[in-house]
Amino acid sequence: MSVPMPQHAYVDGQYMAIRDATVPIEDRGLQFADSIYEVCAVLNGRLLDWPAHLQRMRRNLSALFIPLSHSDAALGQIARRLIAGSRATDGLLYIQVSRGSARRDHGFPGVVHPRLMMTMRRFDFHQRAGQQARGVSVMSIPDQRWGRVDIKTTNLLANVLAKQDARAAGHFEAWFVAEDGTVREGGSTNAWIVRGGTLHTHPLSAHILPGIARDSLIRLARAAQIPVVEAPFSLDDAKGADEALLTSTTAPLLPVVSIDGQPVGNGTPGPVAARLASLVADEIHRQTGWRSR
Ligand code: PDD
Repeated sequence: MSVPMPQHAYVDGQYMAIRDATVPIEDRGLQFADSIYEVCAVLNGRLLDWPAHLQRMRRNLSALFIPLSHSDAALGQIARRLIAGSRATDGLLYIQVSRGSARRDHGFPGVVHPRLMMTMRRFDFHQRAGQQARGVSVMSIPDQRWGRVDIKTTNLLANVLAKQDARAAGHFEAWFVAEDGTVREGGSTNAWIVRGGTLHTHPLSAHILPGIARDSLIRLARAAQIPVVEAPFSLDDAKGADEALLTSTTAPLLPVVSIDGQPVGNGTPGPVAARLASLVADEIHRQTGWRSR
């Protein structure tokens, strides 16, 4: 008896295997990056911080005037069916909504039929444990992105090139630095430093993505009496900090132990990062029942 193919993709109302999923050549996401996206963690078959992802997605859709008609309940139903259909318990749910297909013309089409796409891919969150123990390195790079990176669009070329440069140089992440020396965020993560026991991260603005993991860490830290300051810090501040770290859906909390080849603190993960990592792990467990091996 043949085993049915896992169905880990959804496009325009249909479920299918990823290898069978396609979009039309005139999809505006493809031609203009005229689309928004979300990446959500699935742990133990459960979505982490799902309401926060939905809320951010709605904000992004309205910022780009993309009229998605699906309700939150409908989106949740599609996501859950995909997770079940993928037969993976740990993975990344990817959601993209484009302004649909139209004859190529920069202005919006007269009638817009947004295209909703989702995929569910297996992802090994356990691999992060080793990185958490050792820490990771980052390199700085000038921020050459457009001026509204707070909207989570698929306009990611500057992030792609930055990440590639970082990886080619043997680093985990690139940190985008503004002309005035301010560290904004990473290619796909938010950036943090610790000074005198206080956590610092860039304030919410048009220059950073309001990360779900960022928001969650601020809440968890404050609840544990660890002070958090949302204020700009410079690359020199970061290099001279006691500790540094990064957060994202795919890397909930990783200590940064070197920047541009210079050790941060003593060049090993510090006590504040360890404490925060355990708060994050407890929160993940509370929501999903998942624990790192
Ligand atoms: N990236 N900053 C940028 C530029 C990002 O692309 C991301 C997420 C973050 C962290 O956001 P969150 O905590 O909501 O994951 C910060 C996703 C994971 C990606 O593009 O793969």
